[in-house]
Amino acid sequence: AYDAGPFLPARGGLAAHRKAAAGCRGCPLYEGTTGTVFGAGDASARLMLVGEQPGDQEDRRGEPFVGPAGGLLRRALAEAGLDMDEAYVTNAVKHFKYVRPAGASAVSGSAAPAGGGKRRIHKQPNLRELSACRPWLTAELRLVDPELVVALGATAGKALWGSGFRVGERRGLLVPLPDLDGTPLHGQGLATIHPSAVLRAEDREALYQGLVEDLRTAARALT
Ligand code: URA
Repeated sequence: AYDAGPFLPARGGLAAHRKAAAGCRGCPLYEGTTGTVFGAGDASARLMLVGEQPGDQEDRRGEPFVGPAGGLLRRALAEAGLDMDEAYVTNAVKHFKYVRPAGASAVSGSAAPAGGGKRRIHKQPNLRELSACRPWLTAELRLVDPELVVALGATAGKALWGSGFRVGERRGLLVPLPDLDGTPLHGQGLATIHPSAVLRAEDREALYQGLVEDLRTAARALT
């Protein structure tokens, strides 16, 4: 089965985990990518943001949320009174999963990055990939031990609360964090929509205001 577990270091902090994650082969998604995009930020952060997976620019630069979705997220956080630079920012899945539009066989994880177009189109990770990668997320949650975790979108929600999670039913609500893979977590959680959903939406302004509103709830929970 796909599993990042054997690649985790037996001890050490975030730096040791980041280093080990660079060599993760727990699922095939590393093939055809630039590298692992581990979480970024301070181990003492009170707020953790969890996205879905790195996008094209995040894969090239090796850092989470540095592309268009990250820009929108940074603005929405600021409007809600939160500073993205003070948060620990990570993703549920740590490699970029994509397809090349003109080549059906050219998917990251297929070892066939050649062929098809140059553009790499984000492809949603499946539940196997999500659970394979969860040991990294669990370790980040244990090491950072944030007061509040904001799950951005359904994939992050499923990683934390299970495959039955529906962001539409649960967004904007402060809930306890579950024990993840037997690791007890102390903080609260809150899910909201993914910033990419705002970028894709026809009614961008309404979705953006909804995102800001949820982040305001998060900001109040932190003060
Ligand atoms: N979308 C995500 O979910 N994460 C990133 O890091 C970038 C875009």
